[in-house]
Amino acid sequence: MSEKTKVIVTGGAGFIGSNIVDTLLEMGMTPIVIDDLSTGKEENVNPDAIMYRQDTRDLEGLEKIFSNHKPDYVLHLAAQISVSRSVREPIYDESVNVKGTLNVLEMCHKYGVKKIVFTSSGGVMYGENPPFPTPESVCPDPVSPYGISKLAGEKYVKFYGIEKGLRYTILRYGNVYGPRQSPDGEAGVIAIFAKKMLNKEPVTINGDGEYIRDYIYVKDVVNANILSMENGDGEIFNIGTGTGKSVNDVFLSLKEHIYYDADPIYGPPRPGDLRKSILDISHAKEVLKWKPKYSFSEGLRETVKFFESRR
Ligand SMILES: NC(=O)c1ccc[n+]([C@@H]2O[C@H](COP(=O)([O-])OP(=O)(O)OC[C@H]3O[C@@H](n4cnc5c(N)ncnc54)[C@H](O)[C@@H]3O)[C@@H](O)[C@H]2O)c1
Repeated sequence: MSEKTKVIVTGGAGFIGSNIVDTLLEMGMTPIVIDDLSTGKEENVNPDAIMYRQDTRDLEGLEKIFSNHKPDYVLHLAAQISVSRSVREPIYDESVNVKGTLNVLEMCHKYGVKKIVFTSSGGVMYGENPPFPTPESVCPDPVSPYGISKLAGEKYVKFYGIEKGLRYTILRYGNVYGPRQSPDGEAGVIAIFAKKMLNKEPVTINGDGEYIRDYIYVKDVVNANILSMENGDGEIFNIGTGTGKSVNDVFLSLKEHIYYDADPIYGPPRPGDLRKSILDISHAKEVLKWKPKYSFSEGLRETVKFFESRR
């Protein structure tokens, strides 16, 4: 892959996408960002990248970009990402996560893209009672509209793979955290807590704080995307750490990194949230030759440093 390797990153102005864009530039590739800036920010996008403010639901607009650049690869991250919003607005969630994905797939097929890497979620995919850690082979049983729309996206990707010969890899992330995650939305407990603790504001935990998640640092997720451009064709991979932490654990760990002495306030649980999610990552280790490199403590340190610098 060289400077001439053109990579469309949908959602490239968002938290994870913009971190991917930085790495593609470091590797000498040409990233082309497609983002409607609904939750992403222009300031996240490296000025050396090409940026289009474009909604993935608008096929005509997408086509102009694909026909102009003829990308080699597409990393598809643009999505409605909030479970709570998907519960409140399932039709909007579906329009972005299903129709937007279908439009991107159609463009990949029409313009001969070498491969698409599709972003899914391991945190919402496996239902309430899978084995832990959960391997990809467990039958999906999402309970939220967000999980359902991500599963539909996966199925369309597979359809384009089987019927139209489009190369693909599907990555199911755990709970991703790190620099540039928005602390103002409804997703991203680490960013939300870090901002509140740094501002000495009260922190609210939804439910009893014993909801377990597999927290993965964003740079490890970036690396999984890069490896997937050339490996793991036609496969689904969990991208997490294989270990779980409760929200109460996260609160206490962050307290150690930030001088904060208040206790949390406990609020009602959020509808659509699963109680526990821990991903089995053996398949990614074996096939993608990927494994997480950042410990939770290293990841938290980098994340807190970022939010401190933003104050
Ligand atoms: N953050 C996590 O813990 C996590 C976990 C599992 C999966 N994911 C997936 O990773 C991807 C990136 O998520 P993120 O955490 O960086 O969130 P994010 O909100 O920062 O990024 C999503 C980006 O998509 C853009 N976008 C939304 N709708 C769009 C549309 N219709 N057209 C074009 N752009 C649009 C937003 O403006 C934003 O920049 C998403 O697909 C998300 O579902 C994230």
